[in-house]
Amino acid sequence: MKINTLTPFQFRLATSVLHAILHEDKSIDESYSIFFHKVNVCNREQALITRVVGDIMRRLNYFLKLLDIKVKQTESATNIDNLVHVWHIINNLHQTEGARTPPLNVNEVRVRNKDLKKNKPLLDGCPEWLEVHGDYELGERWPAERHALADAPKRFIRVNTLKTTKEELVRTLLRSNVNTRDVEGVPTALEILSDASLFKMNAFANGFFEQQDAGSQLIAPFLDVHPGMRIIDACSGAGGKTMHLAALTKGKGTIIAMDVAEWKLKNLKQRAKRGGAFNIETRLIDSSKVIKRLHGSADRVLLDVPCSGLGVLKRNPDIKWSDTASRLNALYATQAEILENYSKMVKTGGKLVYSTCSIMPVENELQIRNFLKNHPDEYKLEEQRTVYPSETGFDGFYMARLIRLG
Ligand SMILES: C[S@@+](CC[C@H](N)C(=O)[O-])C[C@H]1O[C@@H](n2cnc3c(N)ncnc32)[C@H](O)[C@@H]1O
Repeated sequence: MKINTLTPFQFRLATSVLHAILHEDKSIDESYSIFFHKVNVCNREQALITRVVGDIMRRLNYFLKLLDIKVKQTESATNIDNLVHVWHIINNLHQTEGARTPPLNVNEVRVRNKDLKKNKPLLDGCPEWLEVHGDYELGERWPAERHALADAPKRFIRVNTLKTTKEELVRTLLRSNVNTRDVEGVPTALEILSDASLFKMNAFANGFFEQQDAGSQLIAPFLDVHPGMRIIDACSGAGGKTMHLAALTKGKGTIIAMDVAEWKLKNLKQRAKRGGAFNIETRLIDSSKVIKRLHGSADRVLLDVPCSGLGVLKRNPDIKWSDTASRLNALYATQAEILENYSKMVKTGGKLVYSTCSIMPVENELQIRNFLKNHPDEYKLEEQRTVYPSETGFDGFYMARLIRLG
């Protein structure tokens, strides 16, 4: 997208969104939703604000260093305004005249920028804990992934083939001035090239598409499902992949969507209704009995386990600035537990996919290797794949497909 100097109004809006994220405990998406509902902003303005806030949040440590301040100090209105002024300077744009805080001295910032740019992890907005972790996990591959994860995310949708075809959807979107293009290697995906507010469109209300990263759209097909099968999506959340599974089964067979969070399953039901997916049942996991009752019952099981989210930093950069590092060990234990206990729901000859939105082997290949070591005669690895952001331009994902032997 073409970027330009923010007007004083857009400047105020960007700083308010930043304040909500940094000091009111709001996620980035929540903050956009609050402010874009509160004030009247056109699609182009929304896209611009999203870009400014996203750029700052993706490389927050770098922006703070340019101002020589700490996060805590952004509680001051002047410092938060200066973050946005700096964004203009490093993008070679004139600073906003008439903002609450006067423009910064451009030369001073440029001199500091020239110096700080030599620190590549900092330039990619990588906190120290993540640099250590990424380097340990991915070695030589890490710098390219770190760099790709600092990019602004592309916008992708998944065509809901239960309701329309890709060709038809492209035409429908074009009638609303939304330009799209195909995505190589992901037949259900379209990349959105316009600044459209997709959720406000009739095509969305009618269930013709879902917003879903192109990399994420590789996971449901990886499960090798066929119409008529009994499928369990055991960590379904609000159903991004459940909806895709429903489309792949052409609405035939049964999909049991399960999660420990009831509100997510409620959202899934609404989504399924909108998308015309009538073969989805939801089941809340409120005790281990819910899983035991389903032992040996499914042709296919998807375990899209809770993970660090380190593959989706482009979209959720706040993960880098939260206490993610301290929660990692507990997450690995949960992943291993889910794999151990939920895999029993697959019937003999059936298949299981374990997936994460992380590119770190400790959550991926290592979990699978440990599981197979404990169950050498019961499961066999058919295929595994990591979707690397540096190679695809997508978010980062891992998927492994196992077959149950006995
Ligand atoms: C990566 S998210 C799933 C995203 C979802 N599959 C999608 O495509 O939109 C992981 C989900 O696992 C759920 N979860 C966490 N612990 C769980 C557990 N022990 N059993 C089942 N689900 C769990 C979380 O509530 C979350 O919705």
